[in-house]
This record gives sequence, structure tokens and C-alpha cells, in this order.
Amino acid sequence: MYHDQNRRRNGDEPAAPGDVHPDAPGAPDGTGASDGPGGPEQPTPGGFDPERLSGRLRSRVLGQEPAVAAVVRAVVLATAGATDPQRPLANLLLVGPTGVGKTELVRQVAAELRSGPDDLCRVDMNSLAQEHYAASFTGAPPGYAGSKEAFTVFDRTTVEGDPYRPGIVLFDEVEKAHPTVLRALLHVLDNGTLRLANGQQTISFRNSFVFLTSNLGSAELARRRDARWRRAADRLGARSGALTARLAAKGNKDVLTAALRGFFDTEFLNRIDETAVFTELDTATAERIAALEIELLRQRLSRRSVRLDADASVTALLAERGFDPVYGARGLRRTVRTVLAAPVADAVLRVRPSGGEPVHLRVRAGADGEMRVTPQDTPDGTAGREAPDATEGREAPDREGARDRAEATDA
Ligand SMILES: Nc1ncnc2c1ncn2[C@@H]1O[C@H](COP(=O)(O)OP(=O)(O)OP(=O)(O)O)[C@@H](O)[C@H]1O
Ligand SMILES: [Mg+2]
Repeated sequence: MYHDQNRRRNGDEPAAPGDVHPDAPGAPDGTGASDGPGGPEQPTPGGFDPERLSGRLRSRVLGQEPAVAAVVRAVVLATAGATDPQRPLANLLLVGPTGVGKTELVRQVAAELRSGPDDLCRVDMNSLAQEHYAASFTGAPPGYAGSKEAFTVFDRTTVEGDPYRPGIVLFDEVEKAHPTVLRALLHVLDNGTLRLANGQQTISFRNSFVFLTSNLGSAELARRRDARWRRAADRLGARSGALTARLAAKGNKDVLTAALRGFFDTEFLNRIDETAVFTELDTATAERIAALEIELLRQRLSRRSVRLDADASVTALLAERGFDPVYGARGLRRTVRTVLAAPVADAVLRVRPSGGEPVHLRVRAGADGEMRVTPQDTPDGTAGREAPDATEGREAPDREGARDRAEATDA
């Protein structure tokens, strides 16, 4: 059960079990997840299921099992009420190179525990690097413009959650923040409260999962990495791939730990409940991410009556052209956009310049490294609909819609 200081502070009466929000993982009858076999937002009887949460997170954040396990552990502890009520539900530090799924994991946690992947309070610590801006962390001091409004970078409702939904706070790139911000953060991690500079109000983090991300040590990792060697090793086969992955993970962890110790004070690190280390992505994971991105594109198009069938060669080509260990999966997404989505979009507009009749397209990778998009006949007019065997969809349309919107704002 999540802590109930919000309920007490707000003076609300505890809700009867029947009033519990079905989404709440901590709720007695809640599932904490959606999209059961019966469709989206169907609570399954039996309560919060850690296995299910873990499976769903692993299907969206690939190849980062230890990090997912750390997050699931934190949710289990909080749901069981085993955490200190005077502190946040969990303080998790996510470290690792760029583009390997740190922010994505937190977004997916928000999708599972709250209403969607963007239903979290994200604080870009990079923007609080200068002392001048650092004041917005705790709001304007008395006498300054804005002190009455108690404006801060925090959105109170997403930070504090409610008795049945935890809040989620993400401090992105925590090492970039100004030292005064880090000092205030120390208090948040320790006491779960932040007193605003106007001296009258406090924001409570005691019902929140606090995530901090950092790239510390990644530059050092990048220096050590010999991308060509890694790729060659990956190609040698599954066994040696697994071995290199294990060695790389071990080496990464040592480098990252040293970097964290060198940067943060011990008192800061002592307040972190668990540090989850994200590993560099390997070629096999890159292919799985490429397949996931293709699937997301397929789902998006199917809502516009476009059925897309992509050969296995497409996944392989995207992973080969788009994946660079230095940039993680970010380059992969860009490649999916330019190499696959663009020619597909061209074909859609060519085949269907106006109107919304169903279109069926087949894509395969040509020997020249370009995508071949071929329109297929749709005699029975079923082309645009979901094919009966196309059940790999990992997210419901509403969730996907939220992600699309997030992507649009990313750009
Ligand atoms: N392990 C992964 N599994 C699936 N998709 C991933 C993974 N890693 C990255 N991606 C994709 O790449 C995009 C960028 O990843 P993300 O924002 O999580 O990077 P990050 O680790 O937070 O990097 P940075 O340190 O630069 O912020 C995500 O939106 C996601 O689509
Ligand atoms: Mg990030």
C-alpha cells in the first residue's frame, strides 16, 4: 500500500475498497497494469502482479534486465508497504551511456503505474546548471516576483500522486545540476520533502518513486570502446556474444561506479536505494529494438488503414545501418524514420493520393541497401485492418497514441 500522508494532509477519508482506482498497483484490487486479455484497462483479479509488470517493462525496454529488475523490486517493496514512510518510496539512480533506455524505462513505469508514459514530473537538471535558474527548484524567495504563487519546476499532483497512485519524479542528467540544487535534492532524497523558498509550503515526495539518471562514466566508456571490435565479437555467434556482453557489463559497472564515487559526495550516494546500471546495447538487442520500432510503425499505419508487412531482411538492414554503440538506440529510431517510414509514406501517398481506402504494402530490403516497397492487391478490401496473426502488438492504441504525441513533442 502506498503511503497515505497525502490523504491525511488533504483531509480525505480513506476510500472504500469499491472506490479504489483500478489502475492503482497498490490498491487492494488494483492490477497496476492495463491491457489485459480482455482489452485495455481491464483489471485482472488477484491484485498487483510483479511478474506481469516485469514482463511488460521488459517488452518495451530491451536488453536491460537488471535495471528492470531493480525497478520492479522498488515497486514491490513500496506496494507491500516495506519502505520507510519518512522518505520517498524509492530513490533509484539509473546510470549508463546515452540512448540505452534510461528515460524510456521511467516513461514505461509511468505508463504502468499512472495514466501514461508522460504522466510523470520530469526535471531537466541541465536547465538548472546555473545558479540563477537553480532558484526555480524551490521557487522564488519571499519578496521576489512569483513567491506568492510558489512556482517551482515541480508539478505537485504528479509528484505527490494520490493514495492509490504513486507520484513519479525523474531528475534527468542529475550531475549537470548546480551544487545548490544538489543540496536541495539531498534533502528530498533523505526526508522526502522539499520546503519551498517562500517558506510556507512543502512538496512531499513520500508517495513518489524518485528516479535520477546520469551519464557519468559514459565518456570514459566511450573512450574504452572499440566499436568495430565489439561488432565483430557480436557477429561471432551467440555464445561469444553473450560472453562479450557479460564482460562488457562487468567492465561498464566498474567504470561507472568509479565515476559516481568521483563525482557525488558519499552522503548523496548513501541516500540512493539502488543504482541500476544500463549496459551498452549489442547488435542482437539492436535488432530487437528495430523490430519493436517496426511494430510501432505498423500499428500506427494500421490505424490509417495501411497494412504493412515487413520482411525479416528489413529488421536486419535497419539494425545494421542505424545502430551505433556510441549513440545507442537513438540512431536506430532515426534510421527507421528515414530508411523505412519515409519510403512507406511515399508509397501510401502514391497508391492512395486521397481518400482512406485500405492499402497493403510489403517491404523488403534490396541488395543495394534500399527498401523495396511493393503495393499488394487488396481484392477483399481487408488490407488495412489488423491481420489475424498480427497479435504481437505490445501496446494498446491509446498507449501508442500517447507515445506518438510524446514523439511529436520530442522532435
Ligand atoms: N533498451 C531499449 N529498448 C527499447 N528501446 C530503446 C532502448 N534504449 C533506447 N531505446 C529507444 O531509444 C530512445 C532513446 O532512449 P532513452 O531516451 O531512454 O535514452 P537514455 O538512456 O535516457 O539516454 P540519455 O542518457 O541520452 O538521455 C527511446 O525513446 C527508445 O525508443
Ligand atoms: Mg534520457
